[in-house]
Amino acid sequence: MKMSVIGCGYLGAVHAAAMASLGHDVVGIDVDAAKIEALAAGRAPFFEPGLPELLTADHETGSLRFSTDVSEITGSAVHFIGVGTPQRRDGNGADLQYVDAAVESLLPHLSPGDLVVGKSTVPVGTAERLAALIEPTGAELAWNPEFLREGFAVKDTIEPDRLVYGVRSDRAVEILDQVYAQALSTGTPRLVTDFPTAELVKTAANAFLATKISFINAMAEIAEATGADVTQLADAIGHDVRIGRKFLNAGVGFGGGCLPKDIRAFSARAEELGRGESVAFLKEVDAINLRRRRRVIDLVTDALGGSAYNKRVAVLGLAFKPDSDDIRDSPALDVAVQLHGLGADVVAWDPEAVDNARRLHPQLGYADDLDGVLAGAEAVVLVTEWKQFRELDPAKTAEAVASATIVDGRNVLDPQEWRAAGWTYQGLGRP
Ligand code: UDX
Repeated sequence: MKMSVIGCGYLGAVHAAAMASLGHDVVGIDVDAAKIEALAAGRAPFFEPGLPELLTADHETGSLRFSTDVSEITGSAVHFIGVGTPQRRDGNGADLQYVDAAVESLLPHLSPGDLVVGKSTVPVGTAERLAALIEPTGAELAWNPEFLREGFAVKDTIEPDRLVYGVRSDRAVEILDQVYAQALSTGTPRLVTDFPTAELVKTAANAFLATKISFINAMAEIAEATGADVTQLADAIGHDVRIGRKFLNAGVGFGGGCLPKDIRAFSARAEELGRGESVAFLKEVDAINLRRRRRVIDLVTDALGGSAYNKRVAVLGLAFKPDSDDIRDSPALDVAVQLHGLGADVVAWDPEAVDNARRLHPQLGYADDLDGVLAGAEAVVLVTEWKQFRELDPAKTAEAVASATIVDGRNVLDPQEWRAAGWTYQGLGRP
């Protein structure tokens, strides 16, 4: 099928490349000329495992083009909207300016029978409003939320665990079935819903995931008051299949371009609908999450004898999670910035996110590699669980630092092993 993808960020670029690799003929559109230039040359403008290989392969088959000119969507029958919906600067709601601009830019180029497919995460009610703009052109709207995880975005796009179609006609279902023919042929569950249900599926999924993480982080707070070990607690309750062990890793908490802003936008939307109390717990979920960052900073300060002032602190990790260079609402970067604010001599390193972090926070110290970040450290704090950090050898690491003191903000190191190598080890919610 001939299709366009409006917005070539973490969501849209992966979607465009994945659709082309499935045999579709795709044009990706973005207003950011530098991003389009990179993509058109077959280069990924951000770190995402598997994306460079897809772009190169699509480049060779000629099935994927990129442009800043939205008129190039003419001839495509399906138009995906994959632009961002960040938090508003003046409140907790979602900022819909990019979605609105994408739809406005599409309108003059739509032909009767075209299908516009929203993938961005939007407040419930948005699709209905946008449909009123699109339907007069003879085109139709569907809402088809995207559940991809950064770091696994390519796999999640090509082999999604479910497909949700928010539609108003059988024809829209038929078109989406053609788009996703490959995934459907392998038995991927497909749910056909109305607009508000499709919009809410995404919001509810992210709210649930955020709640699960904050639940275990709340248990970590209780563990800290009682001497219990939250990692064992998670293992034990996780054996109950109704609970499950996934997303029960206590630590510095969740960040990224989705969970934090999505739970805030959900609260804001629920309040507009007069149902604020139904999701009032999400405010607590957010508060627990932010308290964990504070806890990590307090542990580092305690480990340094009560003050971080002028102390060399090695921050391991800047991205909001491993296998990503995304620093949006990153707990790791937040910890680094707050420690710097306390007067610490912060030196941070991340396998992929240093350049992004340096652009936003040039005041922090950055190392070029793992050896550089550890050299002379008076305390080490692990805040993004990259493989390089999980596999650190405690004895060798002890030789590199000035003082063998570590705060494991992701609970990924073995406390016994590290203590045996002479380290003062402190995890979160662990004795
Ligand atoms: C999330 C959803 O998983 C995805 O379905 C949705 O489409 C977008 O938002 P993503 O933001 O890529 O994806 O990251 P995810 O893997 O969900 O992790 C989010 C945050 O939670 C990260 O900061 C991660 O470190 C943290 N996390 C995750 C925990 O602190 N503990 C856990 O047990 C799991």
